[in-house]
Amino acid sequence: MVRQVLKGRCARDTLTLDPPSLAEKLARLATFGFSEQNFLGAPWIPLLFKLTPGRYRRRLALNLLAASPHYFKRYPHYASMARRQVLKEEHRRNVVSRRAICEQILQPHLRSDMTVLDFGCGPGNLARRVARHVERVIALDVSCGAIACAKVLNGAENIAYLVNDGRTLSALEDSSIDLIYSFAVVQHLSDELFDGFLREFRRVLKPGGGVICHVALEDAARQAESQQADASIRGRLESTFRLRMVYRPVAEVRRMIAGAGFSRPTVRPVSEICDVQDDIASQHLLAFHRS
Ligand SMILES: C[S@@+](CC[C@H](N)C(=O)[O-])C[C@H]1O[C@@H](n2cnc3c(N)ncnc32)[C@H](O)[C@@H]1O
Repeated sequence: MVRQVLKGRCARDTLTLDPPSLAEKLARLATFGFSEQNFLGAPWIPLLFKLTPGRYRRRLALNLLAASPHYFKRYPHYASMARRQVLKEEHRRNVVSRRAICEQILQPHLRSDMTVLDFGCGPGNLARRVARHVERVIALDVSCGAIACAKVLNGAENIAYLVNDGRTLSALEDSSIDLIYSFAVVQHLSDELFDGFLREFRRVLKPGGGVICHVALEDAARQAESQQADASIRGRLESTFRLRMVYRPVAEVRRMIAGAGFSRPTVRPVSEICDVQDDIASQHLLAFHRS
């Protein structure tokens, strides 16, 4: 795992500013998968769901999601609330924000005969909303624990939840997908992974198929704020527990998309299209097509 962590780092990696407490580090370590940045990727998590009686599975899912840095935030006012209430509130916040993304960003692009791919679906809040408007959603994530939670919290007949290997979309056939969307994922991928997935997107999309993808772009303020990755062994081990954030210059994102064989992307601030209450509101949206 350590070798994977070292290999997966890229020059611009920054880690989330908010350092995890010791208890959080232990929870992340216990639930970690075997590949880099695979929070809730531990193979015992799906087994635990199987062994847990149905009526406790939802609560188990919310507790597990809280052990990953991906999904639940820590707001100061939570300090005075009971844990159960905090988990409920954070889940509700995620559901509401993904509803806004579906209605305000994705819905104009969805048709009832489409098969769409939700890349990096996490707990499936967006997949569940989108599933109302299309024939089929393939919702895919590297984390088997996140997928197990998604099945419990957001299962639906026309959603297929899949675990991928973290590098490819090998479960998907060539030219089988009408539209790919992805929110809050690309910012956690190294350049090498992002580049590889762009090529996979092109392979699985039908001719004329589109991609709608949220990205974190680098601006002057962000550049100043970005910290140099700590190259010491300790720094690298520390990064195991923390979420990688990659802010990319827009010219580089355009170059990578063109290099993968797509049309020139349109780039728009999320806030122009959507009033989502989430940190993605201050970031950008790319739209491009397979010609
Ligand atoms: C911040 S969460 C976003 C979840 C969901 N897209 C949403 O907006 O609610 C990022 C997700 O990307 C997934 N992810 C990270 N790297 C991935 C990879 N290489 N392949 C597939 N999923 C990945 C993580 O496991 C996590 O569930």
